[in-house]
Amino acid sequence: MNKGNIQYILLILIGVSLWSCKAKNDFPGLEYAPNMYHSVPYEGLSQVTDENAGKWLSNREDGLGEYYNSNPNNPFKMNMREPVPNTVSRTEDGFLPYRIPKDSFALAGRILTNPLDSTAAIVSEGKKLFQIYCVHCHGETGHGDGPVGKVFLGVPPYNVGRVKDLPEGHIFHVITKGYGRMMAHGSQVSPEERWKIVRYVQVLQNQN
Ligand code: HEC
Repeated sequence: MNKGNIQYILLILIGVSLWSCKAKNDFPGLEYAPNMYHSVPYEGLSQVTDENAGKWLSNREDGLGEYYNSNPNNPFKMNMREPVPNTVSRTEDGFLPYRIPKDSFALAGRILTNPLDSTAAIVSEGKKLFQIYCVHCHGETGHGDGPVGKVFLGVPPYNVGRVKDLPEGHIFHVITKGYGRMMAHGSQVSPEERWKIVRYVQVLQNQN
């Protein structure tokens, strides 16, 4: 192949690649596996109302564009319905979303009550969780003498002074948001698990 041929081939290649970038009407250029980008089922959080979107590609029976994605049975053809009026959102495990600000310990102590009973089963589950998440600082008996607590320092015993009388809502809030030098554990333990831990902390508060 001589030098002249290579130049022609290069020119053609450049031409073809430039041509492939051209957008014409609603033709976006070739897409590999377009269904990966344009949802066939109703897409909850997006809505394509343009009936001609992707028309060039469409073989839909209703004659609409392939990318049209709106639910004609809903108001405004929305794909997702709004919740019925007065709906109160809950977390997956049925708890109300937690909106008490970090520094509002007294408020938490006043308004939060443990939805779980103090049965032996709950307390023992709380103990198991305590041994996973708290024991290294707070110690087996809650005296603040866990192996990490001894180094971290300042971990209060549960059964003395102010901490002995902390209400359950306050303890729940401490686990959820943290307190002073103690970090928040809300992202690690679910609300239900937190309430179980509270039951066990209360056992430790009440020891002599
Ligand atoms: C990394 C160590 C550490 C871990 C883990 C830890 N804590 Fe603490 N906790 C502390 C420290 C330190 C304090 C004292 C904070 C302060 O007064 O600044 C404290 C304080 C507390 C208090 C008393 C709050 C108050 O109002 O005085 C409670 C209740 C408590 N922790 C419960 C728990 C529970 C339950 C867990 C497990 C889910 C846990 N902590 C995990 C270090 C820890």
